Amino acid sequence: MEKTSQVSGFYKLNRVERLAKIKEFVGLTDEEAKILEAGLGFEQAEKMVENVVATFRLPLGIAVNFLINGKEYMVPMATEETSVVAAASNAAKICRPLGGFKASSTDPIMIGQIQLLTKDAKKAKKAIEENKKRIIDIANTKDPRLVSLGGGARDIEVRIIKTGTGEMVITHLFVDVRDAMGANAVNTMCEAATPIIEEATGEKTLLKIISNLADRRRAMAEVTVSKDELGGVAVVDAIINAYEFAAADPYRGVTHNKGAMNGITAVAIATGNDSRAVEAGVHAYASVSGKYKTITTWEKDKNGNLHGKIEIPLAVGIVGGATMNPSARMSLKILGVKTAKELSEVMASVGLAQNLAALRALSTEGIQRGHMSLHAKNIAMMAGAVGLEIDAIAEAMVKQKSINVETAKKLLEESKKR
Ligand code: MEV
Repeated sequence: MEKTSQVSGFYKLNRVERLAKIKEFVGLTDEEAKILEAGLGFEQAEKMVENVVATFRLPLGIAVNFLINGKEYMVPMATEETSVVAAASNAAKICRPLGGFKASSTDPIMIGQIQLLTKDAKKAKKAIEENKKRIIDIANTKDPRLVSLGGGARDIEVRIIKTGTGEMVITHLFVDVRDAMGANAVNTMCEAATPIIEEATGEKTLLKIISNLADRRRAMAEVTVSKDELGGVAVVDAIINAYEFAAADPYRGVTHNKGAMNGITAVAIATGNDSRAVEAGVHAYASVSGKYKTITTWEKDKNGNLHGKIEIPLAVGIVGGATMNPSARMSLKILGVKTAKELSEVMASVGLAQNLAALRALSTEGIQRGHMSLHAKNIAMMAGAVGLEIDAIAEAMVKQKSINVETAKKLLEESKKR
């Protein structure tokens, strides 16, 4: 039988049953499943940061139904926010009938910046450009393994910028980091290139550091969603109007983008990636033209279906750093991605799905309804419900359209009397 990420009623299974489905889908061993369940241990935690006293846990949910470039994906998402995993799964499901997501990405090129303080910016720029080959060569001596894997420093670009303390010359070092996020490799290469820049210009460098505006390392995804799956032409039109609002107004645009980031960041965290770098890069990319833009676009195609696209910088890796911790390894195993490029393509698709789910909910029934059932469960627990009572009280509150602790307590008392 063909492997599929479509599991009908996945959300209705209990946690152990869900885990069994994942094991079957991915081919996890019992031991790997135990690692997944155990989460981050103290021994690893102490190797990651300083002054550790505990670990802070987040729920790890699995979004199902993702079909990307013809391949089936179950997507691990670490998030504290209700409805994100369900929304991604639902959106991925309605995207399947017309072929799912088509995703692509650029080569994994990161940018390192070397700042030069100079009295003659034009002369310094020329001197640095004349030493391009030496800069690239010395950078590559710092990471022979990366070079042997087909990566390494590729090129430079020298920019003159005007600042509050005068002109500065900023050298961008472009490094193909292959499957790593790349910060360490890029920072080391920038530091190694510095003596050549100082020697060539006779002037002093200051900062040498990666740029989180990773606009040479982008992931793109697009999807066509059938109008029938969405609930008709009126829903397609409503989603496009919702998108146009975000495209025209940064107050809405940033919330629109935040919705897409709900999915992207959750995958970044689940896979041990630097979610702050991803967030910083995406929002900078959204505003780089001088106007804050949406990272997704939506339009109606000639058949009246909804067509959406996303394009974002995504500096994510599958090796190195916190991606090597056992929990992150399990998430990467569940995803089944073979390269950092593939991970970025999955993440872009998840972002597009998450945005679609939010726009659809907001432009039809409103966002609160979807939030309510889990919210109601939390309220039921706060009122003292346990075990099977939780679902029963939550359902009763949703039905009564009165979701608060008082109602939950009243319902609980009534059920106890029965
Ligand atoms: C909430 O976390 C995300 C939304 O606000 C996104 C959006 O408004 O598009 C629902």
